Amino acid sequence: MKVAVFRKEHFNAAHRLNNPKWTEEENREVFGKCNNPNFHGHNYELIVKVTGETDPDTGYVMDMKVLSDLIKERVLDRFDHKNLNLDTKEFSNLNPTAENIAVVIFNLLRGEIDPDKELKIKLYETERNYVEYPA
Ligand code: NI
Repeated sequence: MKVAVFRKEHFNAAHRLNNPKWTEEENREVFGKCNNPNFHGHNYELIVKVTGETDPDTGYVMDMKVLSDLIKERVLDRFDHKNLNLDTKEFSNLNPTAENIAVVIFNLLRGEIDPDKELKIKLYETERNYVEYPA
């Protein structure tokens, strides 16, 4: 009996989308407002989905307190109220798009969760724009 459990979290972070291989003009054209040289912030909504068999003893797929602590330690403490480009090693050389942030979050959590469970990350950058990884 496979069941999915979800934990919803929130963090605020600043970023700038920029490709150092391109000219300023090319960057402005592709990334628009997200290329603002002085950065800008987003209120990110993070949804972590864990799917697997329920444990016959606990009835849990995963203890939600454990999942919540894990997200706090691995993700929120690292990214909340940070400038992703300047304050984090994960994005010092990686463009902090929602896509890349979702992949980074997946990789930060994957090793900490039972390999028998499936992990999926949904990340809202705005109310209307969100990404999912793995697709
Ligand atoms: Ni942005």
